[in-house]
Amino acid sequence: MKTLITGGTVVTASETLQADVLVEEEKVAAIALNLDVQADRTIDATDRYVIPGGVDVHTHFDLPFGGSFCSDDFGTGTRAAAFGGTTTCVDFALQDYGESLRQGLDRWFEKGQKAQTDFGLHMIVREVNDQVLKEMDQLVGEGITSFKLFMAYPGVFMLDDAAIFKAMQRAADSGALIMMHAENGGPIDVLVQQHLAEGKTDPVYHGLTRPAAMEGEAVHRVFKMAELAGAPAYIVHLSSRDALDAVQEARDRGVAAFAETCPQYLYLSIDDLARPDFEGAKFVCSPPLRSKEHQDELWKGLAQGDLQIVATDHAPFNFKGQKDMGKDSFADIPNGLPSVEDRVTLIFQRVRSGQLSPSRWVELVATNPAKMFGLYPRKGTIAPGFDADIVIFDPNRERVISAEDHHMNVDYSCYEGMTVWGVPETVMQRGNVLVENDQWFGTEGGGTFVPRSRFQEP
Ligand code: URP
Ligand code: ZN
Ligand code: ZN
Repeated sequence: MKTLITGGTVVTASETLQADVLVEEEKVAAIALNLDVQADRTIDATDRYVIPGGVDVHTHFDLPFGGSFCSDDFGTGTRAAAFGGTTTCVDFALQDYGESLRQGLDRWFEKGQKAQTDFGLHMIVREVNDQVLKEMDQLVGEGITSFKLFMAYPGVFMLDDAAIFKAMQRAADSGALIMMHAENGGPIDVLVQQHLAEGKTDPVYHGLTRPAAMEGEAVHRVFKMAELAGAPAYIVHLSSRDALDAVQEARDRGVAAFAETCPQYLYLSIDDLARPDFEGAKFVCSPPLRSKEHQDELWKGLAQGDLQIVATDHAPFNFKGQKDMGKDSFADIPNGLPSVEDRVTLIFQRVRSGQLSPSRWVELVATNPAKMFGLYPRKGTIAPGFDADIVIFDPNRERVISAEDHHMNVDYSCYEGMTVWGVPETVMQRGNVLVENDQWFGTEGGGTFVPRSRFQEP
């Protein structure tokens, strides 16, 4: 089977050029001007960008959290991702207390059976002991090459510094990457309890009890420990100037310090958390949304390279039946926002406004995530030999984001009513069309697990 994509503007992290793309079976076979090839199918991409399928390295499908489960499973979540131009998600398998990493991982492989796009897995480590440290090495050999640790949520996910340091040493030996949820959970928990005792129960207090300074402090600690352990470290869902300053400071010292931010920290703010009538609950995530001044700093961090990736931290909970579990206490609102479908388009808005180059857009949403998380040279760019995960993106179509027609299995959108430019019109995975003109052609179970290689600097 040969597919020829003609007349488009091919964008990779290194160039933007007019070219045709030939796909043979599951792979990209050639990129050249005016390819003269007999194909089974030709797609006209005139006036479209032809970009690599997006890679979202931070999703939570079917994650148990706060007495509930994220409302997207691998089936609905990967389908929504593909509608938004993302063809590979890396989700987080979870170790339960008292169990081995293997048990948690097997549960995630089971959940992953429903995937409609390709996917990888990180492993959340909740307990560190000799057995777990050995298992970390085994998992690296099986393509689970990154481990998420928490400095927040005491009694639920949080590890102490000794446990974190041991895991970092192990990662340094095996070539794995430590991903950190960096918020100092101790003081935050004290503030949460004090506010609740004073009757301050509204969603906005979720933000006010998790100050940016406690994120900055934790990020600083991460890189001091990582430096001592000789391990690279990566901050997930970085939300504030304070945290970015700590990343910059570590990078200036020569530490292998990396970080992602997420669309919610670039577009939303604590004003959303303060919306009346419990609407703020829709915006409860951790770290919390910050005041607007932080947004410009994060955009600068993306443009200048101190932030290397935009991921979503997609963790959807319905407003009715899930978020409303916290009607009487913000501490009972399940943490997380939906956005796996919106990421590629939201970041594209900065290309449209001339503030980001097309290549940097592709680098942030596809190439860097693929490189840093060991999916390269299979995913992350359009080049001969790579998987034909390709998005034909129409930059000139305007639309309004709404829960009415999004594909995520959640009853609201954080971006409801926002006008955006750009539609991922045709989305292809390994040469097969998943999305064409708003129609779905994928199948549950059609996605495959992709083992990942060890961490590489982008
Ligand atoms: O609020 C969030 N971020 N929920 C998902 C779990 C996590 O910490 O990433
Ligand atoms: Zn987290
Ligand atoms: Zn997360």
